[in-house]
Amino acid sequence: MQQIIPGNHASISPNLQTSVRKLAINPNQWYVVARSKEVTNQPLAVTIWKQAIALYRDSTGKVHALEDRCPHRQVKLSHGQVIKNELECAYHGWRFNSEGECAAVPYLADNQKLPTCQIRRYPVKEQDGFIWLFPGNKEPNIEPNIEPNIEPMGLPEWDNLNYIATVSVIQTQAHYSYLIENLMDMYHGHLHQDLQAWAEASLQNIDEDENKVHAHYTAQSYYKIDKIWSISQLFFPALRRLHPEPLDVSYVYPHWVSTLGNDFKIYCLLCPVNETETKAYLIHFTSLNAFWRLHKLPVWFRRFIKDSLFGAAQKLLDGLVVQDVKMIEEEQQAFLQNPEIRNYELNRALVSVQKLMKSQVEKSI
Ligand code: FES
Ligand SMILES: [Fe+2]
Repeated sequence: MQQIIPGNHASISPNLQTSVRKLAINPNQWYVVARSKEVTNQPLAVTIWKQAIALYRDSTGKVHALEDRCPHRQVKLSHGQVIKNELECAYHGWRFNSEGECAAVPYLADNQKLPTCQIRRYPVKEQDGFIWLFPGNKEPNIEPNIEPNIEPMGLPEWDNLNYIATVSVIQTQAHYSYLIENLMDMYHGHLHQDLQAWAEASLQNIDEDENKVHAHYTAQSYYKIDKIWSISQLFFPALRRLHPEPLDVSYVYPHWVSTLGNDFKIYCLLCPVNETETKAYLIHFTSLNAFWRLHKLPVWFRRFIKDSLFGAAQKLLDGLVVQDVKMIEEEQQAFLQNPEIRNYELNRALVSVQKLMKSQVEKSI
């Protein structure tokens, strides 16, 4: 049931609404560009906000990120291979080290020097199962003092034996603002009625600052994970019973995190590709904290339980993503066809979300 708070109707000015749909990103943040398991010693091409990047792993296992462009003839370095920890272009075999410097040209004559061309390298970290990349609006290999002074958000539950994880990849032809607004507006439980994730959301309050918007809702949850067999609710919907739970959703720029009661934590890690395309990783954690007996078992056994139950919520999560992506892409298409049409917004949290997106971009300029 949608609650309308008298006197607090959100009004989004047409200007703000239009400009948000074409908004760039604040590049001075950590974004997620791949899952750890995707990055090997074969280069992987990714894109973060119109910048093509080649990721690769060296022989020590360290991940590097270089601009995906050979300075010789501008082809993609990701078509090449990793040789002696250097990225070799597929075309003429020039090689680039992890600093982005040209390190070898196979046909260099004795009287020729290596070209001084250099491509951009990006700060990159591997943490909690994902590859975090800092696009930055300065080039660290040209201005060496420009290294990120903030840390990636991280997922403390990823390696915690008390949480089982499910990952779903979102690939949508829409601006990232539509995805974040979808995730922050819990009144859209209506869309997911057949999947029964939550019901009867009601916005209680909003807490915001220059880096985040936190919206606190009350809701009804269909799940209660209090007995070991109750995990089977993730597979058998008939076992679920509605009961009240707090539902908290936060836009911690540029990512999203949510808790439903004590049992669930969900992250959405963003990789905006361009104005009309967004990639994101949705990670759902089910807590096993209620099972105190489980915690007394040997670590290897708890690890076995965690690993065996990986992906337990896959059907639910993928189902939610399909429904959300359909709506988000329709919104994007409607905007492209008629950008002047104004939305009617009743959820105050979305006004705060749009303001945060804009202010983050403004402060990066
Ligand atoms: S285009 Fe890359 S080596 Fe020639
Ligand atoms: Fe949804």
